[in-house]
Amino acid sequence: MPEAHSPASSLETSAVQTRKSRSARHLRIAIFGFGTVGSSVARILVESKPRGLELTHVFNRGVARKRVDWAPASVVWSEDADAVLASDVDVVVELVGGLDPAGTWARRALEAGKSFVTANKKLIAYHGVELERLAAAKGGHLKYGAAVAGGIPVIPGLEQGMAGDRIERIEGILNGTCNFILSKMEEGAEYASMLAEAQAKGYAEADPTEDVGGFDARAKLAILMRLALRVQIDPEEIVPRPITTITPVDFSYARDLGCTIRQVSRAEQAEGRLAATVGPMLVALRSPLAWSQGMENMVIATGHYGGDVVFSGHGAGGHPTAVAVVSDLLALAHGSQRVEIPSSPARVGAEFEVPHYIRFLVRDRPGIVAAITTELAKEQINIRAIVQRAGFPADALPFVVTVEPCKTSALQRALTPIRTMDCMLVEPLDLQMLE
Ligand SMILES: NC(=O)c1ccc[n+]([C@@H]2O[C@H](COP(=O)([O-])OP(=O)(O)OC[C@H]3O[C@@H](n4cnc5c(N)ncnc54)[C@H](OP(=O)(O)O)[C@@H]3O)[C@@H](O)[C@H]2O)c1
Repeated sequence: MPEAHSPASSLETSAVQTRKSRSARHLRIAIFGFGTVGSSVARILVESKPRGLELTHVFNRGVARKRVDWAPASVVWSEDADAVLASDVDVVVELVGGLDPAGTWARRALEAGKSFVTANKKLIAYHGVELERLAAAKGGHLKYGAAVAGGIPVIPGLEQGMAGDRIERIEGILNGTCNFILSKMEEGAEYASMLAEAQAKGYAEADPTEDVGGFDARAKLAILMRLALRVQIDPEEIVPRPITTITPVDFSYARDLGCTIRQVSRAEQAEGRLAATVGPMLVALRSPLAWSQGMENMVIATGHYGGDVVFSGHGAGGHPTAVAVVSDLLALAHGSQRVEIPSSPARVGAEFEVPHYIRFLVRDRPGIVAAITTELAKEQINIRAIVQRAGFPADALPFVVTVEPCKTSALQRALTPIRTMDCMLVEPLDLQMLE
């Protein structure tokens, strides 16, 4: 006689089955873009054979030259994106970059109920909210753990580990190329030679504007702001400042002040005011931000309840970035639900209240310092120090004024008449000082 199941035991059986189907979910994976990161993702999938993940397709233009002998013979190599999107793959892993056609592939994959995993910061900064809604509507998932800070798990850290806090500030070093150049300049190198070295090592593009102009970091900051500060912003509202204005003399003066210079991306929400900025800043030598060298990235998230949490490590490179991608795939295969982080549209300004470093390069004459301090005083800005090293010629004299915490807008008003003083040889350089 068959054994009768009690309601409780059939519930238990179905719970076990659900657990089993979750833990054993087998995902067929298509990699779009077999370049630095795409080939590293394939390497890890083939070598480590993570449970539940099967590489079935690779799509790339001119795919014949991309074939490798270490991939299983079963992998389909294709240069037909439509065919791969129409296939039975469960997840499309986009590692091509740029807004298009990556955005089109993302929409088509998600429309078809597939999941979409990407390392593409631009796509997520500009279209992440729309793609997340589409994924939720169609039953797929969108994951982008590699889009900010490469192999450093800052996105899962914010989505999971810090979801219980109210994050008030986020700041970090989000662009390895700028960090490489600035940390070498700290040792005495010139900007142009370090840019050339970064290009020779493959860290910087032939056109480095995205990196040195701050546009790459701005896209990453916009993504972090959504997860940390829970705001959806238009990345274009953040006006980045390039690192190209930094000279070796700024590093000398920074050292005199117990600081160094890094490209920092920062955003904060205080008293109903949202502010964000990207650019070179003075960071105290004792700050973790000053410790990151070369291509390293670092993010510091400051929670209302938990205080500072620091994430640091390799912000780029094929293997570190691929680890973040494979971790996203494993999370999908194992059915882990990410915490739903609500966010709402917001306008972002650039008003911070911090001390500033202002470097002037002047043709020397009497009365310059008095004229500058008069303009600063009109805006109620207090001077902290005036620093002038010996040994510079009077016809091209660099000196520095540091000021107590003041509003960005007040400083800009004070600098307007100062800029047009006849002794100024170049635009005064003002940098936020992070203490
Ligand atoms: N590299 C890193 O350290 C890093 C770190 C974090 C995030 N990411 C992100 O990861 C993504 C990939 O970066 P990557 O460094 O791996 O780039 P990559 O080395 O340039 O690889 C891109 C691949 O996509 C292919 N491709 C480009 N346009 C295509 C198109 N229209 N159709 C088909 N294939 C196309 C390229 O083929 P060809 O060989 O023909 O050009 C190449 O194989 C980007 O979103 C990037 O921002 C990279």
